[in-house]
Amino acid sequence: MKIGIIVYSHTGNTLSVAERIKEDLIAKGHCPDLIGVIPSIDDPKVKPPIEFKSAPDVDGYDVLLFGSPVWGFSLSTIMKDYLTQLPSLSGKRVGCFLTHAFRYAWLGGNSAMKQFKGLCEKKGGKVFATSIVNWSSKGREEDISSTVERLSSYKTT
Ligand SMILES: Cc1cc2nc3c(=O)[nH]c(=O)nc-3n(C[C@H](O)[C@H](O)[C@H](O)COP(=O)(O)O)c2cc1C
Repeated sequence: MKIGIIVYSHTGNTLSVAERIKEDLIAKGHCPDLIGVIPSIDDPKVKPPIEFKSAPDVDGYDVLLFGSPVWGFSLSTIMKDYLTQLPSLSGKRVGCFLTHAFRYAWLGGNSAMKQFKGLCEKKGGKVFATSIVNWSSKGREEDISSTVERLSSYKTT
């Protein structure tokens, strides 16, 4: 079972969650790859179609765990365009995680997750888990722990 953790992170928050998921999977005996989505211009104002320095290839992975920040009540433009440009996620198990900073998930996190999940499903991926971390909450560590737990407990059937 080959696992790819594919993450876009502008200021490092989402990347730090991805690293925690990677550590947990390693502790469970897996060998996941953690790969960054890197745009040529790393600026929230960049408009699609986005050019990428690194647009990770998903071929060869059975399980894909995608991570992104929320931008403007939506999925970050960078992750949105990366997923849009992907050929297919058919036959793959997919987990999606988001980080955001506004106080409540209804201020962006929930709608961004709906988009995130929808884009993965549109590409044929089977979404087995979603999770949102509120970076400015006192409960951040709990959010991270439950995200790690959900994303690393993928179903194979
Ligand atoms: C351009 C921009 C727009 C943002 N919009 C939102 C938003 O609508 N809702 C929210 O909760 N946080 C928003 N944030 C905060 C980020 O989602 C949050 O800080 C996230 O953890 C950053 O992740 P990163 O460090 O991986 O880039 C925004 C941040 C930026 C830079």
